[in-house]
Amino acid sequence: MNKRTRRVLIWLSTLVSVWLAGCSTAPSQIGVPVTSETVALGAELYAQHCAACHGVNLEGQENWKERDANGYYPAPPHDDSGHTWHHGDENLRGRILNGAEGLDPAFQAASVMPAYRDTLSVEQVDAIIAFFKSNWGPVELERQLEATQREAQSQ
Ligand code: HEC
Repeated sequence: MNKRTRRVLIWLSTLVSVWLAGCSTAPSQIGVPVTSETVALGAELYAQHCAACHGVNLEGQENWKERDANGYYPAPPHDDSGHTWHHGDENLRGRILNGAEGLDPAFQAASVMPAYRDTLSVEQVDAIIAFFKSNWGPVELERQLEATQREAQSQ
């Protein structure tokens, strides 16, 4: 077997083991399903509950990286330009259900993010996350999936 063939074989076996590792995890554990139904529901809920702060087109508020005159952070974008996709599904669920209350005490006072646990069901929150995913590019989606997988492994 020459070097090149061996390299191809190693590469293929790595691919197969990554694929098998993916299969051993139930789909519900590796992420919120993005289907036409969840995305449509998520878009509707987003427009109703979130767009006023996070922007109709997920663009966020201006100067979102800096506190405003009252010491509050503006709402960040949920498109590729923000950092929502840095967080795995479980983390995002928590951020939406618990709002500012789920944050580090140091950040809590600077956040006006409401808690949605009494307004939205987990399924509805998951639909909003699916809607976010439908707007992310391939690189962001890949990174977010990795974050979701890391979360699942550390549980
Ligand atoms: C009153 C304005 C307001 C509304 C309404 C609002 N948010 Fe937020 N949201 C914020 C602010 C401000 C932040 C940044 C501070 C923080 O992280 O808590 C934030 C942060 C977040 C984050 C963390 C993003 C990151 O990159 O860390 C997520 C996720 C989020 N919001 C989702 C939602 C969803 C989904 C809705 C609707 C169900 C919603 N927000 C409604 C103001 C709002």
